[in-house]
Amino acid sequence: MDKILVVDDDLGIQKQLKWSFTGYDVIFAEDRASAIAQLRRYEPKVVTLDLGLPPDPTNASEGLATLEEILELAPQTKVIVVTGNNDKQNALKAIKIGAYDFYQKPIDSDTIQVLVSRAINLFDLEMENRHLSAVAPSMDRILGQSEGILLASRKAERIAQTDISTLLLGESGTGKEVFARSIHEHSLRKDKPFVAINCASIPENLLESELFGYEKGAFTGANKTTPGKIESAQNGTLFLDEIGDMPIGLQAKMLRFLQERVIERVGGRSEIPVDIRVVCATHRDVQSMVAEETFREDLFYRVGEISIMIPPLRERDNDVVLLAKTFLAQYNEEFKTKIKGFSDSAILAMKQHKWPGNIRELQNKLKSAVIMAEGNQIQAEDLSLIVKDEGPTLTSLNLREVREHAESRAIRNAYLVADKNMSKAAELLGVTRPTLYSLIDKYHLEDIKTGV
Ligand SMILES: Nc1ncnc2c1ncn2[C@@H]1O[C@H](COP(=O)(O)OP(=O)(O)OP(=O)(O)O)[C@@H](O)[C@H]1O
Ligand SMILES: [Mg+2]
Repeated sequence: MDKILVVDDDLGIQKQLKWSFTGYDVIFAEDRASAIAQLRRYEPKVVTLDLGLPPDPTNASEGLATLEEILELAPQTKVIVVTGNNDKQNALKAIKIGAYDFYQKPIDSDTIQVLVSRAINLFDLEMENRHLSAVAPSMDRILGQSEGILLASRKAERIAQTDISTLLLGESGTGKEVFARSIHEHSLRKDKPFVAINCASIPENLLESELFGYEKGAFTGANKTTPGKIESAQNGTLFLDEIGDMPIGLQAKMLRFLQERVIERVGGRSEIPVDIRVVCATHRDVQSMVAEETFREDLFYRVGEISIMIPPLRERDNDVVLLAKTFLAQYNEEFKTKIKGFSDSAILAMKQHKWPGNIRELQNKLKSAVIMAEGNQIQAEDLSLIVKDEGPTLTSLNLREVREHAESRAIRNAYLVADKNMSKAAELLGVTRPTLYSLIDKYHLEDIKTGV
């Protein structure tokens, strides 16, 4: 049975609500302390909260404080506040703090039943969504919860089931190889070989024989017939990394392999049929290369039947912190260190940094931070990052402007560090949630307000 917590010091109302909520498990509390105790114990989906609580039932302050505490402990709870019949002002205050809805006395059984059942439905729906976004997609090598990375992973997961040629695009260090391997592992070819070759790291004259193999005597030094990378990926996946660096001369041969699915070894005469899934990657802008004729247009369409854009780390919201924590745990194990976490300044610095080298850069910075850190927490300086603080300048109008500027920045920073959680941000700033909201209004930090 779904649990509802009724917080009200009026025993008559308690009784009335008990009758209204048949089909639910109804729990009672008469003041703030017992409400919190019951909340911890029963984790109700819905709370009805009378704002006029003892010690001063004529005033809503104890009720509003209880509301804040409930939302802080269990933000997913749907709280319906119950107010005296002419107390719209406090009802709106409660909504601003995060109450789900409000309801004015006297209590009408039918109306409150509808309110509660809607609240329970919403609670269940939100839970289900949270669950879905936590499990899907199933590409478990690819860490991240940001919109961009979830989108890319879902696309990759779909593509994996097919044999379609895929082009992975993204800056260096964004995880192109991780994606390529994940696609292979989620495909029907997962038990067959995954063969990777980096077109940029092999000299042009060797690349051809690396890829296609060669017959004995094809050139000086070709002492025995050797199959190439393509052949060795038979029935599996071939990952052509840095395809944008493939010499134009070789591109024609690649095109033939991709179109006809046959290869010829260097110096060979017979065609060898191959059954291979091809995944390519590049950090280059191949589209412009096509326009400049340094990359064959027909090959571009052949390798990029579908393409996945992997977003840079700076566009992945809070993923940088999630990844940092994961890598920290790994490096603690690797280097036998016991670093507990990150200081607020380190988190802020990581969120501000642009990460031109993306995840690889994050790994490098973290590795040296873990080795160099003196305390049990990683500081911004350990990461060789600085917290940017464009403080007020001397051209500021007056002291008030200086103060407002500083306060706005502090609020923005706290909001970032708290990962957009208002209660946490308020705590970091040492103010209450309502105070934080009124400061946000005062300084017109609209983007923060709409972010909640
Ligand atoms: N989403 C992710 N979750 C966890 N680790 C990741 C993720 N993306 C990348 N990595 C790690 O980051 C590092 C760089 O990833 P990868 O080599 O796949 O990037 P890349 O785009 O191929 O880079 P480059 O262009 O430099 O070749 C690797 O150590 C990889 O394991
Ligand atoms: Mg790579």
